[in-house]
Amino acid sequence: MADFYAQFGRPVGFPGWLAGKLMASREGNKRRNAWTVDLLDIQPTDLVLEIGYGPGLGVEWAVAKVTNGLVVGFDHSDVMHGQARRRNQRAIELGHLLLRTGPLEAAAELGLRFDKAFCCNVAQFWPDPNAALAQFKALLKPGGRLAITYQPAGHGAKPADADRFAERWRGLLHAGGFRDVQVERLADLKPRPAVCLLAYA
Ligand SMILES: C[S@@+](CC[C@H](N)C(=O)[O-])C[C@H]1O[C@@H](n2cnc3c(N)ncnc32)[C@H](O)[C@@H]1O
Repeated sequence: MADFYAQFGRPVGFPGWLAGKLMASREGNKRRNAWTVDLLDIQPTDLVLEIGYGPGLGVEWAVAKVTNGLVVGFDHSDVMHGQARRRNQRAIELGHLLLRTGPLEAAAELGLRFDKAFCCNVAQFWPDPNAALAQFKALLKPGGRLAITYQPAGHGAKPADADRFAERWRGLLHAGGFRDVQVERLADLKPRPAVCLLAYA
């Protein structure tokens, strides 16, 4: 089971494909992605970045709000790129969405600065959170907004894990030079509540 949970950090092959289908079908996943995007108050002309788009639920919700801007997604899994591309084919063809395969570090290669950036159940996989936050700070415009959402998942996950995550990441965001750090909770999310940390670059 621990091996299958690893698929959610970097889906590969058939088990990774299955993990993507599970993520795409769960109501809780859909809701936490939509909630995260809504918290960012995305404007029609915004340039928006998602890291770790998985099967593409978050970028799909963001594209609906960005009518005159661009949504860009990076995920280091080829399998997730395939699923997210199929889900969002029309937005890609219309030039509203750019989906790349690659890690957070690769996003700098586009030479863009974003108004909003988000990730949903991705930050728990980062080996070096300080380095990841420095990357986000460099990718956001001054005053740009970051949302980091976490819903405890996997064997033995508990609701209290969300609060522990929020306390840890609140400190990391302050230390990383982010301003006005705010914690939101989605208390009635099933099977466990989620937290979202919001902050300005
Ligand atoms: C648990 S899934 C969440 C997917 C999606 N955000 C959602 O909530 O439905 C985590 C995703 O983040 C991706 N990921 C993890 N670390 C990453 C990194 N450093 N750069 C890019 N993608 C990453 C994984 O490949 C996986 O698709």
